[in-house]
Amino acid sequence: VQSIAVLTSGGDAPGMNAAIRAVVRKGIYHGLKVFGIERGYEGLIHGMFREMNLGTVADIVHRGGTMLMTARSQEMLTPEGQKKAAEQLHHRGIDALVVIGGDGSFRGAQTLSVQSIPVIGIPATIDNDIPGTELTIGFDTAVNTVIESVSKIRDTATSHERTFLVEVMGRKSGSIALQAGLACGAESIIVPEIEADLDEVSSKLLRGHQRGKNHSIILVAEGAGSAYKIGEELRLRTGFDTRVTILGHIQRGGNPTALDVVTASEMGACAVDLLRAGKSDQMTARIHQQVIGLPLEVAYGPGKPFNQSLYDLANQLAI
Ligand code: F6P
Repeated sequence: VQSIAVLTSGGDAPGMNAAIRAVVRKGIYHGLKVFGIERGYEGLIHGMFREMNLGTVADIVHRGGTMLMTARSQEMLTPEGQKKAAEQLHHRGIDALVVIGGDGSFRGAQTLSVQSIPVIGIPATIDNDIPGTELTIGFDTAVNTVIESVSKIRDTATSHERTFLVEVMGRKSGSIALQAGLACGAESIIVPEIEADLDEVSSKLLRGHQRGKNHSIILVAEGAGSAYKIGEELRLRTGFDTRVTILGHIQRGGNPTALDVVTASEMGACAVDLLRAGKSDQMTARIHQQVIGLPLEVAYGPGKPFNQSLYDLANQLAI
């Protein structure tokens, strides 16, 4: 390959900028021309390209968001859109594409690979729901943002002796709730992967109260149902004063953690190496502290296994 392009697609995730920087700089290091495409597949279809140089990615390694901007493209779901997207690359003589995003973005990439464009996916989503990789870019930062927010909520929860339900993102995955819940010592963690027994949660709250606990924090993954409904059920069962905080998009912003920046940098570099080695239809994956290439299909395979032992541990520690 001599000329490659990079785009970010789907929901943004802290660390995407570090991944863009790594693709651009590693590409330039090896003498490639690197183009950035703005607004994800929308920009690809409509020709929003710009040639990148060392300076265009200066001062972004530590910033949240994505300097290339992102979009969820409806047009890329149509055969016409997919054809236009491939034509834009062929027409400019661009040999290959790196897509930074979630599994929906990888599906878009595969429609280009069947049109003879080598593609590599870099998993970036705060949800950490992509099979094959232990970590997706942005997850660690989002978890840390939740921990920071819960610590603030705990101050007011204690003062008012309240039970707080904190709803976190993650789509169908309970990963953010689980990891953050364990790290901030939540009394209960409610995730879509495991049906919640609200009687059991209520008994735990009551037991804690009898022991002299004056407040509780329950983390609810958005995919497990409405935190408002769950809060009302718990209020009816326990008589405790409950409040709900939905953290929302705050979880998608902020400077990435060191782990996210390092992972993003390794994945960006790995994507360029895979293309230079003539590979296509691969995604970068972090397994046992190493970043490697795996077939893109892995991302659509059976869902990522739920970390049951971590969930059990969180419950044992919040007895
Ligand atoms: O996939 C990332 C994510 O933040 C999910 O956790 C959440 O359900 C969704 O995106 C929100 O999407 P939007 O930014 O379109 O509101």
